[in-house]
Amino acid sequence: MSGDDDPPVELEARLADQETFEPSAEFVSQANVSDPAIYDEFEQNWPECWERAADLLSWDQEYDTVLDDGNKPFYEWFTGGELNASANCLDRHVEEGRGDELAIQWEGELGDTREFTYSELLREVEEFAAVLGDLGVREDDVVTLYLPMIPELPIAMLACARIGAPHSVVFAGFSADALATRMNAADSDHLVTCDGYYRRGDALDHKEKADEGLESVTGDTTTVVVDRLGDELDHSLGEDQYDYDDLVAEQEGASVDPVSRDAEDMLFLMYTSGTTGEPKGVKHTTGGYLSYAAWTSHAVLDVEPDDTYWCAADIGWITGHSYIVYGPLALGTTSVMYEGTPDYPEKDRLWELVEDYGVDIFYTAPTAIRAFMKWGQDYPKEHDLSSLRLLGTVGEPINPRAWKWYYTHIGGEECPIVDTWWQTETGGMMITTLPGIGEMKPGSAGPPLPGIDARIVDSGGEEVGAGDAGYLTVDNPWPGMLRTLYNNDERFLEEYWREYSDPDADEWVYFPEDGAKIDSDGYITILGRVDDVINVSGHRLGTMEIESAIVGTEGVAEAAVVGGDHDLKGEAVYAYVIVEDGYEGSDELRERIIEGVEEAIGPIARPEEVVFTPELPKTRSGKIMRRLLEDIASGNDLGDTSTLRNPDVVDDIAAQVRGD
Ligand code: PRX
Repeated sequence: MSGDDDPPVELEARLADQETFEPSAEFVSQANVSDPAIYDEFEQNWPECWERAADLLSWDQEYDTVLDDGNKPFYEWFTGGELNASANCLDRHVEEGRGDELAIQWEGELGDTREFTYSELLREVEEFAAVLGDLGVREDDVVTLYLPMIPELPIAMLACARIGAPHSVVFAGFSADALATRMNAADSDHLVTCDGYYRRGDALDHKEKADEGLESVTGDTTTVVVDRLGDELDHSLGEDQYDYDDLVAEQEGASVDPVSRDAEDMLFLMYTSGTTGEPKGVKHTTGGYLSYAAWTSHAVLDVEPDDTYWCAADIGWITGHSYIVYGPLALGTTSVMYEGTPDYPEKDRLWELVEDYGVDIFYTAPTAIRAFMKWGQDYPKEHDLSSLRLLGTVGEPINPRAWKWYYTHIGGEECPIVDTWWQTETGGMMITTLPGIGEMKPGSAGPPLPGIDARIVDSGGEEVGAGDAGYLTVDNPWPGMLRTLYNNDERFLEEYWREYSDPDADEWVYFPEDGAKIDSDGYITILGRVDDVINVSGHRLGTMEIESAIVGTEGVAEAAVVGGDHDLKGEAVYAYVIVEDGYEGSDELRERIIEGVEEAIGPIARPEEVVFTPELPKTRSGKIMRRLLEDIASGNDLGDTSTLRNPDVVDDIAAQVRGD
């Protein structure tokens, strides 16, 4: 780690000219993976190479086949194998004599702490598994977990896994409506939620939101409520609602055997945004997903049992599933979990935690790094960050300036950075450098991981040359891939496979709906989504979902939502709205529109700007020119607009966005 007196300005100037970075010899010498031969080994021995991932787990029943591709693209992995995810994350470490080592170190926003050794976490999980069983949860029932970043969330996830009940975690920042949509889509009759939680010092009422959501859930629901806030908020329990602590107390010391699950049995569902208004229920399985989360944690995050590892994401998103809960716990490391925001009570909160816990590996999103940069280097400088060995980013492209800032001011020029491209659907990382091998290029995620067959193609499916922009595709399957969209095989085929596959030749190509380019070294730079999905602070939002919330507001006739560049968030939501006859584009309507979006989805989808316009720019055939709206939002040059049906409207809209 650099000393307190490093000359950052000079250093930044030097780094600006430097395009590639090598991991230090010290890092390489201790890395889990450091031999470049791994790329060839995987290629030559595919798909058996994936046994390496499966070998990181304990199986109740060995699998017969690594990959069953008899019904493409409904691939099956490690078929015939049986295992339990909670036993892999807990019991086996205890059985190996590591029960007294820390599994989770949790810190609340106000500085309160809770920690769990592997033995303690196992006890909590068994007790809550017994509670779920008592409430009538059976194998394959979907349990919805609408919880913020408190230890009961991973405990409930692992308790579900223990009894073979898939969980569906709904991000706590999502609205009541979003909760209800997801519970109905998953046919989920069981909910675990809490009274509230802290955000920037305020106690937020979460139970009220959950109750409101439950009003729109069809069927009877049993709800368990965790008491996070004590007496801070008054809440009462309605019919079929139970207090978490009371139920757990009744099961004190309960022992619940982990059920052996088929490798292909569902471990969880995770709803994510797509092109249409309906969220997609991404289905992940027990054997393939868990082995992939463990393998990538081992190979990319370099996680070892004696690390103190911190992924500063929210478990409500896939990053937290794979890299706060399943990957690190499967490897038996100590995973840090923090309830709050990075700037409360002060902007050095995260660095204080890194210092206090002696964090070795730190994984976050570019949006956070851009905020740290804006706040300035003095905040990290106040802390001893010398425990750090490796840094990571995920969720959106990282600009080279932010990369270099992270490298210098957080990593002290000694920690490699892994810029990891992946998706909810891929289950784990797909494109990134391996930190102990080869060079890093700021802004480029790196080559595909060993065994991952990613290519950049043109719209006809032909590979593009080095430097040319194209579409990212993945040819071969991999163990962590989604198996389908819940109850919707047709949409699964449509969304991910139709574009580039040739079903007649039985050739199947996965299309993640990202644009990308590749350089002559095979390093891939992600250019962003090519569908109607926008990426706000690393969170994926469907423009259609936001549009339908806006059009549902009284006084709105039509709306188009696009993503525009934003310094901190990466992209922000811009809404262009046509007002219904008899209404005015007033501040009051703007407020109602924003409230409508927050109610339908949550505050993360809040429009940055609502622009009222008499018309939307359309082509002569009547299609809304979204690209133009994006350029307006991003302040880009608009080029020639004369071929539009209504070119005049463009200047008017652009002037409003610029504020003149
Ligand atoms: O556009 C890509 C972007 O995030 C999308 C996936 O979003 P989600 O399913 O919510 O998962 C986020 C966490 C894995 C991708 O289609 N994305 C993710 N990681 C990167 C990225 N874009 C550029 N660079 C990355 N490292």
